Amino acid sequence: MSIEDVDLDGPRPDEVRIRVAASGLCHSDYHFIVGDMPHPLPVVLGHEASGIVEAVGENVRHVKVGDAVVSCISTYCGECTQCQTGHNYRCDDKPARAPAIGEARLSQAGKPVHQFGQLGGFAEEMLIHAHSVSRIPEDMPLDVACLLGCAVLTGVGAAIERAKVRPGDMVAVIGCGGVGLNVIQGARLAGASRIIAVDLNPAKLELAKVFGATDLVAGGDGVVEQVRELTKGGVDYAFEVIGLAPTVRQAFMMLRKGGAAVMVGVPKFGSDISIPAMPFLQQEVSLISSMMGSVPFQVAIPRYAQLYLEGRLNLDSLVSQRIALTDINKGYEQLAAGSVARSVITFEGVGRA
Ligand code: APR
Ligand code: ZN
Repeated sequence: MSIEDVDLDGPRPDEVRIRVAASGLCHSDYHFIVGDMPHPLPVVLGHEASGIVEAVGENVRHVKVGDAVVSCISTYCGECTQCQTGHNYRCDDKPARAPAIGEARLSQAGKPVHQFGQLGGFAEEMLIHAHSVSRIPEDMPLDVACLLGCAVLTGVGAAIERAKVRPGDMVAVIGCGGVGLNVIQGARLAGASRIIAVDLNPAKLELAKVFGATDLVAGGDGVVEQVRELTKGGVDYAFEVIGLAPTVRQAFMMLRKGGAAVMVGVPKFGSDISIPAMPFLQQEVSLISSMMGSVPFQVAIPRYAQLYLEGRLNLDSLVSQRIALTDINKGYEQLAAGSVARSVITFEGVGRA
């Protein structure tokens, strides 16, 4: 990534312009940086951002200039069947903002510049659809609030909204990065009795304890046996939060009868997963997935912010370091090396960040 100047158009009727306060370095952008997934270029990456509304288009009602907001990639139309049945995170008709030539929302010398997820949060400003932002409480610190838009929503939502973990359930979480740690704290909030954290990296396991893990298991071979042993027969829910076929299979294999494996990690483009057929039938287990928390983000983000303000959701320990935009490539190298949970880019002097 290089840092360059980009021209922004004014907000159209359904758009908002945001002064970015903070932006998290999520693993999903990394898939595009290294080319696991294709993306048209040039592109402004970044999607986990917080900021202050600077300008709104004439149709925008739910936020106004000066509001503190968090961006989310789950832009919705509000009118398709998925939106109308309460599943706007699965919107069939995301408001199209792909810039036609000459109509670029962002541009350089008149040439269109793309926005990852129609957002582009690694920047001082974002020009985005109004259905991509959630308002947050005024007293919410913006340098941690950005994480609500992706890692927290995705992780906590997978546990609470998708799996619907109940008090007393036993849970395993494979992959304890920025997202996995939030699955762990979602399961804790839901009252899980055992939360088994699995990761290759011992430092991540130590961090998992801070978020509520009751047992720690080193990733790799033998994980399934260890979890089955610890729980005397398997877990009710196993979450895969990496995006790899072998670990999805591990999640599936560590379930007790009637349990569900929840795929949260984003797999490599075009890859397959496989599960053994006989236990699938005989043990009435499920393999399900969860995207962006499986909940309308404008409902969940303010709730999760409130839980933070009440001291029930830990966001502070997610942030390993605050960095300047100029250190973004180094931040991603550290993410790839596994030495940080989340790095957050902060822009001085915006809101309360
Ligand atoms: N077994 C156990 N843990 C593993 C394994 C494995 N085979 N391979 C990797 N891990 C661990 C890493 O050590 C790291 O702690 O998985 C974790 C992944 O964390 P991050 O790189 O911080 O990724 P995160 O941002 O949490 O996202 C995880 O969810 O939203 C998606 O696109 C995202 O696919 C990514 C996944
Ligand atoms: Zn993300």
